[in-house]
Amino acid sequence: MREMVYNWFDRRLGLASLSKTLLDEPIPGGPSFVYVFGSAMLFLFTLQVVTGFSLMFFYSPGVDHAWESTRYILEEVNYGWLILSLHAWGGSAMVMVVFFHILQVFIWGAYKTPRELVWVMGIFLLILLNFMVFTGYLLPWDQRSYFAMGIALELLDKVPIIGDGLARFLKGGATRGVLSLSRFFTVHAMLLPAVLAIGAGIHLFLMRRVGPAGSIKAAGKVSEEENETFFYPGQVTKDMIFAGILLVILIIGASLYPAEVVEKASAEASDYNPRPEWYFIWIFQILRLPFFTGEIGEFIGGIVVPALLLGFLILVPFIDRNPERHPRRRMVAMSIMALFVIGFITLTVMGLLGVGE
Ligand code: HEM
Repeated sequence: MREMVYNWFDRRLGLASLSKTLLDEPIPGGPSFVYVFGSAMLFLFTLQVVTGFSLMFFYSPGVDHAWESTRYILEEVNYGWLILSLHAWGGSAMVMVVFFHILQVFIWGAYKTPRELVWVMGIFLLILLNFMVFTGYLLPWDQRSYFAMGIALELLDKVPIIGDGLARFLKGGATRGVLSLSRFFTVHAMLLPAVLAIGAGIHLFLMRRVGPAGSIKAAGKVSEEENETFFYPGQVTKDMIFAGILLVILIIGASLYPAEVVEKASAEASDYNPRPEWYFIWIFQILRLPFFTGEIGEFIGGIVVPALLLGFLILVPFIDRNPERHPRRRMVAMSIMALFVIGFITLTVMGLLGVGE
């Protein structure tokens, strides 16, 4: 019976050649746990889509209902607190996992020729991800999100040429209100997920065209037997184990520290001291450094520095022309990466500890 069903579909869909194309991708050097981060990103994105759609059944994106419906989800809906908390934790997890994905790709030299386009597409996904977590932060419409949005829109406004128009469009008027909320909701729940899904598809397509970079060992040193190992079942099993571990961590995190809302957004409470989420705190911390004060300082710290960092990241495969992949033979690239990572972690920890507040 099973064979009959399989044959029926195989004749119509060509299952045998489809599964060969999808699963029989050789991984030079064989499967490894260090390659799990890319597929973990896909897993987390799926989790965000599932929890996000579940939330949409109860959430209402109007200024009179957003805060109330978020509280309703947290307090009244069966397991609503778990779904919302998983969604919030899932966003943080995506930022953390993408960090490790970039780090792995960098250390393994997997951005080098012919994988430049895979890297550039990855940076595009990174930008989308940042917009995704930022726009989602506003939706509960509490004081935290309202004032965080105020600061972000002020910064956006300072971006030359497009900033003013973009900030005005997102705000939907002179003040933050009805239109800002529905525009952030549309961007967060419809536009960005669609673009991110298409972008991730292109990222994977580009990656499969050139094949995975695989082992860090110099080409030729990998044994024949190792060279012949395929994406399925070795890598798929490792990817699934890591996804399972992530899910358990997220459920424990969401249960111990569930999402919460503070007081409802109100423009009157101007003494509210806003704090961004941990993944944006490094920018906040740059703005606290003594030389980034005042109108020009804020522009340089909040716009020019992040834009330069982003520009540099995009150009990495074109600046680094060293054909070597092993980290020991790429001391300059490794040192620059270490400086970036230490800088980012230091600023984040300083921000979380409230240094300079
Ligand atoms: C939403 C974000 C992202 C998703 C869903 C994603 C997904 C994936 C997946 C599934 C793979 C193949 C498996 C692997 O090697 O891990 C991959 C590979 C790759 N990704 Fe990403 N990625 C994302 C962001 C990024 C970013 C931000 C970068 C770099 C700036 C990047 C650069 C690469 C490169 C160069 C490869 C090829 C690695 C190799 O051949 O070994 N990706 N990505």
